[in-house]
Amino acid sequence: MRTKILIILIFIIAVVIKLEAAENASGPAGTWEASDRVAIQIDSAAPQIAVSPELYGFFFEEINHAGDGGLYAELVENRDFESSTIPEGWRLEGENLFTPRGCRTSVWFDNELPSWSLTTSGSAAGMVQLDTTSPLNECNPHSLRLTVTNPGQRCGIANDGYWGMNFESGESYNLSFYARTENDAKCDLTVYLESSSGDNVYAEAEIAGVGGPWKKYSRSLTVDGSDPHGRLVISLSKPGTIWLDVVSLFPAKTFKGRPNGMRQDLAQLLADIKPGFLRFPGGCIVEGITLHNRIRWKDSIGDISQRHGDFDLWGYYNTYGLGYHEYLQLAEDIGAVAMYVFNVGISCQVGRRQPNEVASMEDLDFYVQEALDAIEYAIGPVTSKWGAQRAANGHPEPFKLKYVEIGNENRGPDYQQRYKVFYDAIKQRFPEIITIADTRLTDMPMEIVDDHYYSSPSRFFRMADHYDDTDRGGPKIYVGEYAVNNNVGRGNLLGALSEAVFMLNMESNSDIIVMCSYAPLFENVNARNWSVNLILLDSSRGVGRSSYQVQKLFALNRPDVVLKTHVLSPEVEFATPGNSTRRNQVRQLYALAGLDKTANEIIIKAVNPTPSPVNAGVTIKGLAIAGNKAKVITLGNSDITAENSLDNPNIIVPVESELSGVGEEFSCTFKPNSLTILRLPATVN
Ligand code: AHR
Repeated sequence: MRTKILIILIFIIAVVIKLEAAENASGPAGTWEASDRVAIQIDSAAPQIAVSPELYGFFFEEINHAGDGGLYAELVENRDFESSTIPEGWRLEGENLFTPRGCRTSVWFDNELPSWSLTTSGSAAGMVQLDTTSPLNECNPHSLRLTVTNPGQRCGIANDGYWGMNFESGESYNLSFYARTENDAKCDLTVYLESSSGDNVYAEAEIAGVGGPWKKYSRSLTVDGSDPHGRLVISLSKPGTIWLDVVSLFPAKTFKGRPNGMRQDLAQLLADIKPGFLRFPGGCIVEGITLHNRIRWKDSIGDISQRHGDFDLWGYYNTYGLGYHEYLQLAEDIGAVAMYVFNVGISCQVGRRQPNEVASMEDLDFYVQEALDAIEYAIGPVTSKWGAQRAANGHPEPFKLKYVEIGNENRGPDYQQRYKVFYDAIKQRFPEIITIADTRLTDMPMEIVDDHYYSSPSRFFRMADHYDDTDRGGPKIYVGEYAVNNNVGRGNLLGALSEAVFMLNMESNSDIIVMCSYAPLFENVNARNWSVNLILLDSSRGVGRSSYQVQKLFALNRPDVVLKTHVLSPEVEFATPGNSTRRNQVRQLYALAGLDKTANEIIIKAVNPTPSPVNAGVTIKGLAIAGNKAKVITLGNSDITAENSLDNPNIIVPVESELSGVGEEFSCTFKPNSLTILRLPATVN
């Protein structure tokens, strides 16, 4: 009898254990039921943590043609005819180029006049050549020489921009160029804005009497047709030879109407987030593939004809048109403070860019001065040397440069030794500037340190508690680069939701995490250098991926303080889509609450990464809820691998609704594969 009872008991226990295990282990694809054990418990009486107003910002780097052929509104590619210049001392071997120290990269052009071609019709004949006789100035040693022997119907040069020029019907475009002829010969030029085949001409203008020594010519053209793949043609009406340089075409409408400005649609995507800061100009390009190849900010200011661009280590020519002044201006125009990252006398230390170059300690003064001059340009008085330059370039008021980062992704003893020299020099001369170390250093003064994470969804889910136990006695933290770019194709909702989980952790640790920025920011879809990027673009369109929507929701729903939030949530097994062998545990729900003291609202952010709805009980202690309705913003999709694209930009966009019956205790169902924002009116004081 006793044995029988024992067997029955064991059987009952086994069934209970099995049921428990089944509940915990059922995968997203299975018949998985929402658990009523999920709860969000908010205690507003517990100590609150202030959130930095600059928590969410942007990281900009000239990668994927983010600037040239992207945000920077210039339509002409290779406008200065310098893009086939091989830097001094570099060696060309077949398709490979070697830096003076033997570091290998590939040749980024296939002819000496990239983006330009001779265009002829009828019996026309002529030729184009790259020329170095009588250059425009020292910065622009190369120009284009056009010789027309028979003008025929039309003989000229064509430029099709960065994968096509975008023309919008009724809009105006500002053309400018420098030209010269020999012996004071005068030519009549005709300029056309037209389709790539030349069959449709949208605007045409005569520029008569061009010639003599180098001189600048300008014209505004209004197009009568729309075309995202247009081109510019400049033709010569009679036989003759003409030299051209710095041929530039801008839409008359740029963001905030700035000359030499940004594309309106793309800059607006940045402004829409109300970013706290803008970090620039990188990234690895700060370091360069050689020391000379670092971003030389002094070469990137002033009139565009006086700028000298350089090879960009992401594999193309950087015009420096989007230069130091433009970055500072852009930060101001999108309402962000500026963060400038500078080179510390060390070229890029990434493996494939080895052997890298390191300036000796004796030569370091030059780089220190370069950094100090940059800060003076941004915030120095107009009576200072570089402050006066800023004023001459149109901005007498100081810019809001608040942060500088001492190097990018440097490490090892070389960095340790050099960091302190920069830190001391900056703090002595500009104590108000806040410095950022690009890695953790031992026995060094560090105000903020920059952490970078590029990884898979499972790693980001595992980072749900990442900063909880971080030493509070150390420097503050800026998570300067992060993105899920592994196991998510070119980026998808799964990546975005796992980033959101990590962002909840950063926000909840706001006492040490002061800023963070997703990276990289832009990708021209014709020139992808990096696997996953935040905003996709081509000549006429720009779209934020689902990660952009997550960034936007977090930034626009950033609380003033974080409230103590306890989430009860069982874990479930999660299989990476397309990779069923990789299984990880995820929680059914991740959540964090905060307070918007201006709007008098409690903000709850919650991520449900599972394919089933999750019903959670929410309790709020210590605050009275005003009314019984909450605003609900949901970002999600039934397919966790879904993504926005240029052709389908609205697959994953926030949807607003209302939840009734909210109070100090209520329940809410969080949609499958979603980030949800709840805003509840509260009586704060
Ligand atoms: O964001 C792309 C690159 O990743 C950055 O240039 C570099 O800082 C990091 O390694």
